[in-house]
Amino acid sequence: MCGIVGYIGHREAYPVLIKGLHRLEYRGYDSAGVALINGDLRIYKIAGKVSELEKETEGKNTHGTCGIGHTRWATHGEPNTRNAHPHVSESKNLAIIHNGIIENYAPLKTELKKRGHAFLSDTDTEVLIHLIEDIQLNEKVDLVEAVRIALNQVIGAYAIVIVSKDEPDMLIAARKSSPMVVGIGEGEYFVASDASPLIEYTRNVVYLNDEEIAIVRRDKGLEIITIHNETITPYLQELQMQLDMIEKGGYDHYMLKEIYEQPNSIMDSMRGRLIGSRNTIVLGGIKEYEKKLTNAKRMIIIGCGTSWHAGLVGEYLFEDIARIPTEVEYASEFRYRNPVINEDDIVIAISQSGETADTLAAVELAKTKGATIFGICNVVGSSIPRATHAGSYTHAGPEIGVASTKAFTAQVTVLTLMALAIGRKRGTITESKYQSIAIELSKIPEKVQEVLKSNAHIRQIAEEYAHVQNFLYLGRGYNFPVALEGALKLKEISYIHAEGYPAAEMKHGPIALIDENMPVVVMATNMSAHDKIVSNIQEIRARKGRIIAIISENDEVIEEMAEHVIRIPDTEESLTPLLSVIPLQLLAYHIAVILGRNVDQPRNLAKSVTVE
Ligand code: M6R
Repeated sequence: MCGIVGYIGHREAYPVLIKGLHRLEYRGYDSAGVALINGDLRIYKIAGKVSELEKETEGKNTHGTCGIGHTRWATHGEPNTRNAHPHVSESKNLAIIHNGIIENYAPLKTELKKRGHAFLSDTDTEVLIHLIEDIQLNEKVDLVEAVRIALNQVIGAYAIVIVSKDEPDMLIAARKSSPMVVGIGEGEYFVASDASPLIEYTRNVVYLNDEEIAIVRRDKGLEIITIHNETITPYLQELQMQLDMIEKGGYDHYMLKEIYEQPNSIMDSMRGRLIGSRNTIVLGGIKEYEKKLTNAKRMIIIGCGTSWHAGLVGEYLFEDIARIPTEVEYASEFRYRNPVINEDDIVIAISQSGETADTLAAVELAKTKGATIFGICNVVGSSIPRATHAGSYTHAGPEIGVASTKAFTAQVTVLTLMALAIGRKRGTITESKYQSIAIELSKIPEKVQEVLKSNAHIRQIAEEYAHVQNFLYLGRGYNFPVALEGALKLKEISYIHAEGYPAAEMKHGPIALIDENMPVVVMATNMSAHDKIVSNIQEIRARKGRIIAIISENDEVIEEMAEHVIRIPDTEESLTPLLSVIPLQLLAYHIAVILGRNVDQPRNLAKSVTVE
């Protein structure tokens, strides 16, 4: 949940670290800090964003060709300067940055205090660097060995980088359940939570695996051992990410850029997967499990937040098209409730980041119960795809805005392809229906482009409603998960309270909330339950609720009833979420901008939630 970066080489480390921290800021922005080695060990850190850190270091000595940097999402200890990383050891010779949680920090701290250690912060991280130094001095071992021994004593998750004043030519990095990539340049090395800080310096990367320690020496390069002291041959990979993928490209916010990228990102999710005149679906990553998928007795989809909403769309798709009973579970609940899983069940884990702690733990649990597990993830090489048996990447490209947008539509696209492929194999969908959905799916990118033309109209609606306290979102069938997603988008970036409901449930409670101050976003596209949604709209109108309706292009019935309508092109009902979600993303975006919120980095949130 924090961003970490380290550098050792021939350049000044500080500019590399600062630029890297800006790129990693989506992971957390409560405080920022750097440690630089240049004869001495200098630390600068401050509560707030990386820009605050830059102000803090103005005019100060930031020289040194070895250093580490951190941007924090607070877990243990308030987000103040004292708790900002890097943290130092008792002698102040060692500095550490950490992403994760050391769960047994309390007993370790008690023990270290007894041994005379004094702590300067409330963090679990500081305990770890004290422990490492304590081992180094008392067991008379070198720093690498001390790190290795210490990591055998800690319980929890970590991606750490350590520097030492006494060993200015070495960085030590390690990971367990938190991501870490090592970049290998010409006589220079980078370590980071993801590849964005190193993208303009090298394309050669090594992704560390759990319980691996990378020792990066200025002259000898990279060596990897495990915490059990086995030597590992680094597996060098070529980075696929391009610089323009992680820049704003003229947009005011990453979120807006990512909303506008959806025609392309949906296309990329389908590219090479929907082929030939017969629209054959080829999902390379899961090909060898085709039989297992076709014969599945049940699908269990797990995820969190927006990925969970995509999973709910998946439930409609798998049941409708492939006739496979499907359950969708919050990963956080699934992992703790002893779920019943059979050998014929398929578990599908959905995650943009591929690092969400609850989803990863749920995958591990399902594995122990013998399930076959597929991943639908966006970040290549992340932890969840590595923990699953097989899977399909969404290929949406880097998503940097904390509010997920293009990841959702890419996840739904992959789920649609899976449902269609399985349905065709099982014979649960007629060939003509299959063809009609497949053909429509290939037209979705241009239809998304159409929906994006409503941007100015949606901005006007946003101006009218930006100052309300509450919003309701209602949808039926395929549009129910979209209603949930619309409410989540609004909550997380505008801080306006919003609820998503199945439209028919309104009369069982939420209708009591409706008065002339309550805007209700109704998903009312042409669908099997169109008449029913018309009745729901009438019920809202009767109570003076203010209706913003998302309707199909030729609908004239609802236009008469709603205060505002946003039209989307007609499509197959099962593909509606790919279009109907776009106006909701834009509505939330504009309201947040009008309210002056930090759209890309909303308060209290971080892009990947690598803690429980
Ligand atoms: O990376 P993941 O897809 O696993 O993340 C899951 C949620 O944390 C994420 O979708 C979150 O809800 C977003 N901020 C929603 O916009």
